[in-house]
Amino acid sequence: MSLPMPVPTTARQPLWYKDAVIYQLHVKTFADSNGDGIGDFRGLSSKLNYLADLGVTCLWLLPMYPSPFRDDGYDIADYYSIHPSYGTLDDFREFLEAAHTRRLQVVTELVLNHTSDQHTWFKEARMSRNNPRRDWYVWSDTDDKYRGVRIIFIDTERSNWAWAPESKAYYWHRFFSHQPDLNYDNPAVREEMWNVMRFWLGLGVDGFRVDAVPYLIEREGTSCENLPETHDVVKFLRANLAEHFPDRMLLADANQPPELVRPYFSEGDEFHMAFHFPLMTRMFMAVRLEDRKPLVEVIERTPEIPETCQWGIFLRNHDELTLEMVSDVERAYMIDEYARDPASRIYLGIRRRLAPLLDGDRRRIELMNGLLMSMPGSPIIYYGDEIGMGDNIYLGDRNGVRTPMQWNGGWNAGFSTADPERLAQPQISNHQFCYQARKGESQTRADHSLLNWMRRLISVRQSTAVFSRGTTTFLMPANHRVLAYLRSLGREQVLCVYNLSNSAQAVELDLQSLAGAVPIEMFGRSLFPRIGELPYMLTLEPYAFFWFRLRRL
Ligand code: GLC
Ligand code: CA
Repeated sequence: MSLPMPVPTTARQPLWYKDAVIYQLHVKTFADSNGDGIGDFRGLSSKLNYLADLGVTCLWLLPMYPSPFRDDGYDIADYYSIHPSYGTLDDFREFLEAAHTRRLQVVTELVLNHTSDQHTWFKEARMSRNNPRRDWYVWSDTDDKYRGVRIIFIDTERSNWAWAPESKAYYWHRFFSHQPDLNYDNPAVREEMWNVMRFWLGLGVDGFRVDAVPYLIEREGTSCENLPETHDVVKFLRANLAEHFPDRMLLADANQPPELVRPYFSEGDEFHMAFHFPLMTRMFMAVRLEDRKPLVEVIERTPEIPETCQWGIFLRNHDELTLEMVSDVERAYMIDEYARDPASRIYLGIRRRLAPLLDGDRRRIELMNGLLMSMPGSPIIYYGDEIGMGDNIYLGDRNGVRTPMQWNGGWNAGFSTADPERLAQPQISNHQFCYQARKGESQTRADHSLLNWMRRLISVRQSTAVFSRGTTTFLMPANHRVLAYLRSLGREQVLCVYNLSNSAQAVELDLQSLAGAVPIEMFGRSLFPRIGELPYMLTLEPYAFFWFRLRRL
């Protein structure tokens, strides 16, 4: 495979991903340039100013490769090109260059665990038992190997084995049965995946969100998750990356408790970043319970990670709000509070966007985003959540949170000139969240729009490295409806105080160790009374929060 010409890039700062604000988007539903109803790279390129103005620094694209789209692109049929509906490799190169010119890094999807059953590798492998590709996938004569391994897509799959009639054998799949798992015991598979990485890195891609990491290797008598051999595969890929592209980033999608995600950072020689799934759930729990306990607990339970590593933190993404890794009690509570309508549930989670989960309540949307932008990690915004977009829980699978971006009050909300019935997904028409009510470009003009508030939030966050690199220390005021923590980096300190409740709160903070410092509220730059020896008293309106930079004499 000859490598394409690289796209020139702005210099990547060392550890750039630690200071990143990431924006996750779907090319398919972002902007359609040629009127066929499907978003594409030219459309996306035309919206880069919007993204740069928002203040995000990195884009994460959902899978953009040729695919039969039975899992919205996570079923890849060819790792070396672009889905024709999205454009050509040249369109992608132009997009990448345009993004880099605006200092936006680009992270793409690396789906290691499985391919589509339409991939030629699998079409060959399934034909006969002695096909040279046979050993690229995981086969068995019976369907009783690896008994007890959990099924992830419990609404659609009954087994992790599926039958291939051509060669009369079962193949292993952790996700949909049309997504056969690759066999990472076969060194040729690892080598090929490194080739795939090299291809995109050679073009100039800044990193990968690595899909479904825990499931790469299977062993009898285990859960087939997080096995030592899986870590070996990751180490192999990282070592290659370190040698050839040391400034690029790998982000692990490992939906596991923090203790089991920690090994994926290893000694700084596996992943640079990993999602923090339980922190996401606990943010939603804390505002519903009106109590800081779930958040303090999860952060205290989170192990230290190496200097060069970073958590990826988020409120929502393209999947259901997952409740796989929480206790039964927590799951029941979340379902009760956030998913009364059974149609909003799927697998072990909730298929809703941020704004509808919070009843469109601007105060809670701001509070949750305030948490997202100040807790330890690099924040990830899911496209549309910056304008409070709605969802459609009746669209099937997880499509209801993947509807077209709402740009303006025009035809198809400015997403496409196609006839509405041709759109990749229908627009949201629910009157609270429809595009007449929530749209990107019009919010640009309205001073008090959520979009402009988000911009301000991001720019305040990015005005200091304390949020991205600092330590976190909780204060434990008697009022447990208030969450307060100090972020510190060198001499710099920021105090964050959140009212998690729906009623006004007063709180007395023990700030003795900071006596003499003057808190400066970071959004309006107003000075607050100097901290003395006595408890520091603050009052907060429902769901209000403060970020104070502490100025010392
Ligand atoms: C990950 C993706 C999800 C996909 C699955 C299978 O969990 O986030 O969207 O369906 O992997 O590839
Ligand atoms: Ca198009």
